[in-house]
This record gives sequence, C-alpha cells and structure tokens, in this order.
Amino acid sequence: MQVTDIRTTAYKDQKPGTSGLRKKVPVFQQTHYLENFVQSILDSLPDIQGATLVLGGDGRYYNLTAIQTILKMAAANGIGRVLVGRAGLLSTPAASCVIRKYQAYGGIVLSASHNPAGPTEDFGIKYNIGNGGPAPEKVTEAIYARSLSIDHYRILPADDLPLDELGKQQLGDMIVEVIDPVADYAELMESLFDFEAIRTLLGNGQFRMRFDAMHAITGPYAQEILVKRLGAPADSLMNAQPLEDFGGGHPDPNLTYAHELVEILFAQNAPDFGAASDGDGDRNMILGGNFFVTPSDSLAILAANATQVPGYRNGIVGIARSMPTSQAADRVAEALNIPCYETPTGWKFFGNLLDAGKVTLCGEESFGTGSDHVREKDGLWAVLFWLNLLAVRKQSVAEIAREHWQRFGRNYYSRHDYEGVPTEGANKLIDTLRAQFATLAGQTYGAYTVAFSDDFAYTDPIDHSVSTQQGIRIGFTDGSRIVFRLSGTGTEGATLRVYLERYEADTAKQGLDGQVALADLIKIADDIAGIRKHTGRNKPTVIT
Ligand code: G1P
Ligand code: ZN
Repeated sequence: MQVTDIRTTAYKDQKPGTSGLRKKVPVFQQTHYLENFVQSILDSLPDIQGATLVLGGDGRYYNLTAIQTILKMAAANGIGRVLVGRAGLLSTPAASCVIRKYQAYGGIVLSASHNPAGPTEDFGIKYNIGNGGPAPEKVTEAIYARSLSIDHYRILPADDLPLDELGKQQLGDMIVEVIDPVADYAELMESLFDFEAIRTLLGNGQFRMRFDAMHAITGPYAQEILVKRLGAPADSLMNAQPLEDFGGGHPDPNLTYAHELVEILFAQNAPDFGAASDGDGDRNMILGGNFFVTPSDSLAILAANATQVPGYRNGIVGIARSMPTSQAADRVAEALNIPCYETPTGWKFFGNLLDAGKVTLCGEESFGTGSDHVREKDGLWAVLFWLNLLAVRKQSVAEIAREHWQRFGRNYYSRHDYEGVPTEGANKLIDTLRAQFATLAGQTYGAYTVAFSDDFAYTDPIDHSVSTQQGIRIGFTDGSRIVFRLSGTGTEGATLRVYLERYEADTAKQGLDGQVALADLIKIADDIAGIRKHTGRNKPTVIT
C-alpha cells in the first residue's frame, strides 16, 4: 500500500462547537482544511489500527467529496474497515444506530444539521465515539489541540470509489463496505414501536398525516418506514426527495422554517398529525390539527406515556433535559418518582447518563428528543412515538397535550433567537448580564421578583468533568426563568438565544397563546439584558 505523506500548515480555527466543526463550504475547500481536521481526528484516537469506522452524512453539498477524501485517509491511517452508507448517506441517528449495532470503534458524521446547504452555505464534520454518541469534550478538545500543531497528513492516492451499490470493496489494506442507510435503523424502530397499531391507525381511512422531510436526509427513511412498512399514503410525505442544497431551504423543523407544513396543519380541515425533521434527521417538530406541541412539552408527554409503547413498556428509569429546556419533564419525573437531570446544551452531555443506565429519555427545547436506543437525538423516532401514542390513546394531539397540562400544569415556553448579530454586541450583552449577578437578586420587575442569577455550570455525575459558563440563568421567585446563551453552532456572527418560561397550574389559564402568556417576561429580558441596544434588533429572527 503506497501511502502519501502530505505536508500541511495548521489552521487555527478548527475548534468543534456544540456539535462538531461547522464552517461555510468555501472554508472547508481551502487547501488541506478538511484533511487537517480528519487527520487531527485520526491522530487523537488511540489504537485505531485495524478498527472499524462508520461514515456517512446528510447528503448536503460537499458530502460526497469529503467522503471520498476521508475513505482514502482512513485507509492510509491503518483503519481496517469502514461501513459507509450508500451514496454516502446516513442520518445522524442511523449513524449512531449502525455504530452501536456493529460495535464499531466510532464514526465520522458529515452534517451541519439544520443549517442551509450549497456551495456557499454550511458544511460540518463530527466524530462519534463507540457508544454511537457525539464525542465528549475531552475528545473534541484533543482533536482541536492536534489541529493547532498538525504539519502533515496521510492519504492513499487512489481513484474515487463507487458508492452506489451495496457490498464490499478493497481500498489499500482497508475494506469499504457500502451498507443500506435505512435498513438497520428501520429494524430498530420496529423493535421499539407497535407497528401493527400504527398501521391500523394510518390505514383506517380517517386519519390523515403529513411528514415534511424538507428535502433533506429523512426522505428515504420516511418512505421506507412510514409509507412502505406502515402503509401511510404516499402523499403523506412532503419534500421527500433529498437535494444537495435542500431545495434552497433552511431544513430546521420549527414554526418559521417549516412554514409550508405549518400552513397545512393550521388550515381549515387540517390533517390530524404533522411532523418534520431537519437536515440530518435528528430533530423533530410535532403538530396536531391547529396545534403545536413545544419540544419541551413533547419530552414531558412522551415520558408520562412511555409505558404505552412496547419499547418502554417496563417504564423509564430517568429523564435528562438540557438546562434551557422547560421544566415540564421535571414534573413528570417527580410524579413517576424517577430522577430528572439538567445538563448543558448539546446532546453529548446525555451520553454518560445513558451509558450508565441513569436515564431512558432525553430532550432539548431545540426540537431534539431521544432515548437510550441510540446516542443521538432522533427525529423519526419521536414521530413514531407520537403515532404509537395516537394509535393507542385514540385521542387527538391537542387532547393529549391538554390532558397533560391539566394533570401536571402547563409550562409556557418560548425561545427567541437573534441570528447573525455582531459578535461584539453579543459579547457585551453577556458581559452586562454577568456584571449584574451581584445585584439582581431581590429586584422586582412588575409582578416578578428575581430569586437568583448565575452562570450555569455542570459536573457530570459519571466522569465528574466540569463544564462552566453554559448559559446565564435568571430565576424568579415564582419559578419562572429567563436564560441567555450564545449559540455554539452558528457560522456567521453571533446568535443570541433567549429562553423564556413560566409555569401555570390553573387549568382555566392554560389556553393562552405562548407569546401572550410570556409577554411580561419578554419585556423583562430586554430590560435586564439590553437586547435591542446590544444587538441592534427590535425583534427576534426566529421565535419557537
Ligand atoms: C443548537 C441547539 C442545541 C442542539 C444543537 C445541535 O445549539 O440549541 O440544543 O443540541 O444545536 O443540534 P446552539 O446553536 O444553541 O449551540
Ligand atoms: Zn440535526
């Protein structure tokens, strides 16, 4: 095997964010940029000689180019076998599933999740460890450290491999096995959910659903699972053809970017159920006819109803949610007498809890829900969970949500995003907040009195690693909260996220629109943080 050693110069900006390294495509196209990062990953992993890696991505622009380069570098670095999704495709949860099922050493996932794709848009790469989940911080830090000093990389000079046919090929001393990107994942879903009951629901001639794949990775998954295996009519799927540029759209399943689906579900004579997933298939949005389920509520509802679904029939052992996610799940955990963990933002913080068997369900307010079946959040899993519940409970989405509020109370919740604001202003806003920590407690704003304010820090209960400065919390005496964070996934300027939450136990007051119910807190957030002043914006880019 003739390996080429190529001299290179380190880049200084290859620090992974909330979910891997994300940059604009032209940044990745700089000389040796991708190669430097891939070599940094391979150099940071101990004992990889002969190991099996999983490789695939969300199919966005540059996916296939990167896959071919990574295969040749893996071969040159002594990897024994790579399982690669056909045509270079694997949704993020399917990659996690495959890593676990075949007990691979780890995997490289190419995705910038919900960010737009195309020659001038985003690309991303992340490393997942052997449990199928995103690499923990100590691994991503080692990769970053290596990227700062790297001066050569290894690659096998070879032709590109055909990746459209299933089967094994040889690349130097390495085996490349092209696998069906959907089969293993679909089998896992069948083991968790009552497909018979869902098939009956979807075929009863009354129930109507729409699933929006947003021209991203979940199209083929939805086709196989929802249409082929569960019998949903073919026109239940929208935008199911994956495109390299996601059709020019922004494949983020929320009320703003999935507006095509939202309009259908909020029209007269709307379908009974609507759902969407994002670029790489790990996010989900759940809608009923004229009804939006917040992701925080969705987590709480799935937890409260888990035993109605075969995969969770024996009950759940615990729940984990990211800090900015609403506390609706905490109330369910309390009622079930199980622990609820509060972690920093990012799925990687759930991995240890899942591996240690401390939690079964996890969720984030950012349209992420999942369980111990894989180590990533999982969009279609959430859709199937909801369909299974609808089939068993024989109620509408809205009825299930309202009954949940009656029992546990309603956590009004919203997130306001200010995207692409000047970094300097965003940092100043955060500094302004920190400067007020000593004096905020006890201050009164209308009906609200501040109980505490701090920087959220987290000590992992399993490996005791400490993560600091994970978001600024302002807690009020009635349990309401405002949280401020800067995004770790954006690629342009800074994105400020403001998270707002208020609890309402009184069933007579649970029917308000979320923005109306949170109006006072929205104003207080601006009063305390000077959002308009520091961002130069008078309204958020996205409200979810
Ligand atoms: C965002 C979400 C976060 C999620 C991440 C990856 O990160 O807020 O919950 O885990 O995307 O999908 P952020 O941009 O806020 O750092
Ligand atoms: Zn995603």
